[in-house]
Amino acid sequence: MDLASLRKGLEQHRQSHLLQFWDDLSSENQKELYDDLSSIDLDRVCQYFGKATTGLSEAQTKSDERLEPVPEKVCGSTSRMSSDEHKQLFDSGLRLIAEGKVAALLLAGGQGTRLGVPYPKGMYNVQLPSGKTLYQLQAERLLKLQELAFKLTNRHGVIPWYIMTSEHTKDKTVKFFQEHSYFGLEADNVIVFEQHMLPCFTFEGQIILAGKHKVARAPDGNGGLYSALGSADVIADMRRRGVECMHAYCVDNILVKMADPVFVGFCHQRSADCGAKVVEKAFPTEAVGVVCQVDGHYEVVEYSEIALKTAELRREDGRLTFNAGNICNHYFTTDFIESIVTEHDSSLQHHVAKKKIPFVSDDGSITTPTTPNGIKMEKFVFDVFQFSKQFAVLEVLREDEFAPLKNGPGAAKDTPATCRSSLLNQHYRWVLAAGGKFMDSEGSVLPLIPARSSSMPHTTDIDCEVSPMASYAGEGLEELCANQVLTAPIQVVPGKIIKPECS
Ligand code: UTP
Repeated sequence: MDLASLRKGLEQHRQSHLLQFWDDLSSENQKELYDDLSSIDLDRVCQYFGKATTGLSEAQTKSDERLEPVPEKVCGSTSRMSSDEHKQLFDSGLRLIAEGKVAALLLAGGQGTRLGVPYPKGMYNVQLPSGKTLYQLQAERLLKLQELAFKLTNRHGVIPWYIMTSEHTKDKTVKFFQEHSYFGLEADNVIVFEQHMLPCFTFEGQIILAGKHKVARAPDGNGGLYSALGSADVIADMRRRGVECMHAYCVDNILVKMADPVFVGFCHQRSADCGAKVVEKAFPTEAVGVVCQVDGHYEVVEYSEIALKTAELRREDGRLTFNAGNICNHYFTTDFIESIVTEHDSSLQHHVAKKKIPFVSDDGSITTPTTPNGIKMEKFVFDVFQFSKQFAVLEVLREDEFAPLKNGPGAAKDTPATCRSSLLNQHYRWVLAAGGKFMDSEGSVLPLIPARSSSMPHTTDIDCEVSPMASYAGEGLEELCANQVLTAPIQVVPGKIIKPECS
């Protein structure tokens, strides 16, 4: 150990406090701290901090006059397209899947601090009748898509599933998949890789100690994807398999349409290198990032960066001018991703996330703050939109595609209960659309148009769950459901309707 030069380097970067407990440590812990600190490129991380925090004050003043909505010509909408067009896109996506050209790319490296469980979010069970976790729902959607692609083309295409994890989620995720035999997928086609971590800073720029001999670190944001792809050599794996494009998404959206053939078909048809699915922003002050152009480049602008008068602007037809709400569903070609990894990643800036970061106090005790006390530096996955040469935006219906799990039970929104509600509600609509009817225990027919989940008390959920193995997006249910009078709870599984074991 060359303690003297470590000390000097820390002094030069105003980080000497990181050795404040050195003399109290056992020689083993000293070695651990030495290794931990030596692994940090102080020049680099302090520069990130400087740039990210300078950007903070600029970000507030950035936008308005420079903002423009996404041009109509790059936009499509699932609710405004004909059913023929929808079917044609769906089938074209399935053909690409059958040819093995489409991958799914899951961003699952987040710490899920708001949800507050000690395991990866993908392992969360929102108490569906089937008890399926988010990971299982996603795996089964992939299986079903492969089956649909085969039915259409007679070709067995594989959708490789790339899963980005972090130090917090990797081991548990891998073990979970192993224990569940990859939910029927081939283990070789589930490729788990790990993103990098960065030290956490105080607002004043000091690296935080999580323990006397341990630096506080956090994953470098979902935009850490690009450097992780580079170091794990994932692109080479994509090339070897012949993957030409991918659907990237967040782990916490229970409605996510994995490798959605309509979205893939839409972006491919327009020769897009990069694309985003969006939902219509519900009202001007809704806390959602908006896909738009800034100085002619595509970006996601946070709601806090847009002045109220700009957020309230409306088009002639009454819709909000800046209405393309980002839901973290992206399309990338492999060529585009590779160009980001090799040419642009280093120019992407970190953003500041103010968080509650447990730290060691001067007396050596660990404190968990109740208000944000520090900064995690994060890149965002969508920061690469600016490099797109051919962008595409597909507006989809929120109730069909977006219900994120962010918070624990009892919070005001985005909870296990709202996710459960959204999914069951969607499945109820699918069964109705396939010709089924529901009756309550007193024999009265239940409403044909169910209330929207966000406004409906959860006690009135109708427990109707459709296994992804029975239907990917509501298709193929007529044979089972038409003219059936059903009483919840039910589960629709391939070939039959059953009463759940635990309801
Ligand atoms: P969020 O920003 O909602 O963060 O992530 P989170 O970690 O899930 O939850 P909080 O903020 O700690 O409560 C959106 C998506 O980006 C992924 C998450 O796993 C989620 O799918 N993500 C986030 C990463 O993959 N890496 C990160 O460093 C951060």
